[in-house]
Parts: sequence; structure tokens; C-alpha cells
Amino acid sequence: MPKAGIYIHMPFCRVKCMYCDFYSVADKDDTIPAFFEALLKEIDLCNTDTSDWTIDTIFIGGGTPSLTSPHHLEQLIRILENKFDLSHVTEFTIEANPGEAPEDRLKAFQYLGVNRISIGVQSLEPSLLQFLTRIHGPEEIFKTFEAARQAGFNNINCDLIFNIPGQTMEIWQRDLQRIIDLEPEHMSCYSLTVEEGTQLYQYVNRGKVTMPSDDQSADIYQLTQSTLTDNSFEQYEISNWSKRGLECKHNLHYWEIDLYLAYGPSAHGFDGKNRFSNIRNLDGYIKKLRDDKLPRQDNYPLSDKDRTNEMIGFGLRIKDGINLPKIPKLYQEVVNNSINHNQSKWGDYFIKESDRLTLTPDGFAFADAIAVDMMIE
Ligand SMILES: C[S@@+](CC[C@H](N)C(=O)[O-])C[C@H]1O[C@@H](n2cnc3c(N)ncnc32)[C@H](O)[C@@H]1O
Ligand code: SF4
Repeated sequence: MPKAGIYIHMPFCRVKCMYCDFYSVADKDDTIPAFFEALLKEIDLCNTDTSDWTIDTIFIGGGTPSLTSPHHLEQLIRILENKFDLSHVTEFTIEANPGEAPEDRLKAFQYLGVNRISIGVQSLEPSLLQFLTRIHGPEEIFKTFEAARQAGFNNINCDLIFNIPGQTMEIWQRDLQRIIDLEPEHMSCYSLTVEEGTQLYQYVNRGKVTMPSDDQSADIYQLTQSTLTDNSFEQYEISNWSKRGLECKHNLHYWEIDLYLAYGPSAHGFDGKNRFSNIRNLDGYIKKLRDDKLPRQDNYPLSDKDRTNEMIGFGLRIKDGINLPKIPKLYQEVVNNSINHNQSKWGDYFIKESDRLTLTPDGFAFADAIAVDMMIE
């Protein structure tokens, strides 16, 4: 029975952060009831045959899902239970923003079966939080972490961002250490990316903001790796570290090209044959579902060639690497040739075993560039 996950996208935020390209809307809280009505309808309309799937993860991301009322969450869980076999779910995550996830709400989430909280810390430095247009300070971060523990969560992730203009190595190391001292089970450390369509993109383009150089980025990434490893975190993906056995199973579904259903505006899913995505517009999403239609933007079969390239791109990101025997037969030889061809340029970062190609920890810093060179045309 293939393993699978369910992703739900909750697209509401208090404000839109200047660097964020995830689909979300601010100041639209009055639309939350209509959104949930549409979401429940979407799940109900879903006609994917999941009878031989083992659904073991649920992830509610956003947006700011910690704004969800327990009443809406309960309705959501009931409809998922009616539709799918959730008896194998062992990981159920909700993303929470500091200051926007009070303890009583977190307790209610826990009571309803959520067992993992992902807190968007980003930074502990007030001036950097301000630069990122975050609406919380460091105090709310510590309070929300404590509230999650008090509510009974024993699996907490903290998201942090490095490579922020103005973030020195000292600031980053101090922030990292202060979060490590809280003893989270999991940490995601992302390099700040400049996404088209964001305010940050405009600032960088107009020369108002200068991003750190490649050398600075490489140094700060290395510092992140060594600090987390020294504190008994294991790196299992380019941007993800966990205590042993506490990797995020849901995100592993994406990187291992497993099955996952996806609901909500802009959500992306994979049913084993087709990749599909929903429209990235809340009003359009609600309207489609009011008309009893699935809110699809795209729905296309994953060709063997695309699957091969995804296996290269995702595989190089994760500790377990590219699972070579799983490459579609037609492309196995081409991929082997590509590995040999890239040996002289990237070979120092390769660990080649009979059935896997993985990158060394130093190689993770170049995973995207290596993937681009290795992909087949
Ligand atoms: C979609 S956000 C949702 C989490 C939550 N709303 C929050 O802001 O804390 C998930 C994570 O993506 C990361 N992220 C978003 N945009 C990013 C960017 N441009 N560069 C690096 N990381 C980013 C942040 O660390 C964030 O916590
Ligand atoms: S980073 Fe989080 S809070 Fe900020 S706009 Fe994106 S989803 Fe919303």
C-alpha cells in the first residue's frame, strides 16, 4: 500500500510579509466561513481513488492556519474522516505564527488530533523581524513555543531564515543557539529567497536592498550545518534538521514523490499519475466550488522524463539521495551517463553506492546547481 499525505492550504494572514510568495490574503477574515464551506465541498467532491493508499500524514499550511477556529478544524477533520481512512495517520501538523496561536486554541487543536506544531520564528533579532515586516517580536516567539509545550505538543518545529540583509554571523549563531536551547524536535532553516512578485523583489531590483554575496551565503550555511550537527540534530534535507526519528514525514512525501492529496487555493497534489494544482485566488476558488466544480488550475500526467528529473532534483536534496533503481527504466542509462559526465565537475560531492547517489554535507550547498547539470533533456 503506497504511503500518502493530505495537504490543506489555509490562505489567511494578518499581514502579507514582504518576502513571502506563498498564496495568502490579508484583511479578509470575513471570508473565512465561505472558505471553509468551499474547502469542505472540495473534499467532498474529490473523486481520487485512495482505496489502496496508506494515508499517514496531514499538514495544514498557509497562510496562517493557527488562525483557524477549533470549530472549523473539527468540521474539517470530520469530513476527512468520512472520506478517507485516517487510522494510519501518525503525523498531523499545523503551522502557527508567533502571537497568533494562543494556548487554549493549541490545546483544542491537540484535543482534535493535531500532534505537531510548526512555528514561524524566522529570526529573534527585532530589527530583522521588522525588516521582514513580521508583526511579532522575540517575546511572542518564546511565548508561543511555551504555549505549544503547555498544550502538550512534544513534536515542535521552528522555521528560521538566514541570509537576511544585515544579519551578521554573530546574530545568526546567537538566534540559532537560543532556539536550540528551547529544545525543539525539528528545525527548518531556509535561505531567504527573492521571489518575483514580492516587495523584497522590488527592493532588490531597485537597488534599495542588497542581498548577501554567494560567499557570505556559503559561510552562513556551513555555520548552520555545524551548529545543528554539534547539537545532535541530523540533517535529512538541505534545509531541514531533526532529532533522530523525528523527520517531517509529510515533507518527505513531497521529496520522495509519494502520493498526496491537496485542498485549498494554490494547493498542489499528486495522485500517482497526475500532478494537479488549484487556482491561486480565494474568490475564484470559492466561486468554482459554489458551482460544484473542482477549482483546478492544472492537471497533467507526470511523464517518465519529468519523473526522472524530479527524482534527481528532490533526491539530491535529501539525505537518502536518488534511489537509482526506481528511476524509470527508459532513463536509467541516461541518468548513469549523466552521473559519469558530472563526475569531474561535482564528483567530490558525490557518494555513489550501488543503488543510490547522495551528496556529502558540503555538497548540499550546491544541490540545486548539481541538479540543473544532471537533469536530462
Ligand atoms: C508559507 S510560510 C507559512 C508559515 C507561517 N505563516 C509563518 O509565516 O510563520 C512557511 C515558511 O516558509 C518560509 N519562507 C517563506 N517565504 C520565504 C522566502 N522568501 N525565503 C525563505 N523562506 C521563506 C518561512 O520560514 C515560513 O515560516
Ligand atoms: S510568511 Fe507566513 S505570515 Fe507572512 S505572508 Fe507568508 S504565510 Fe503569511
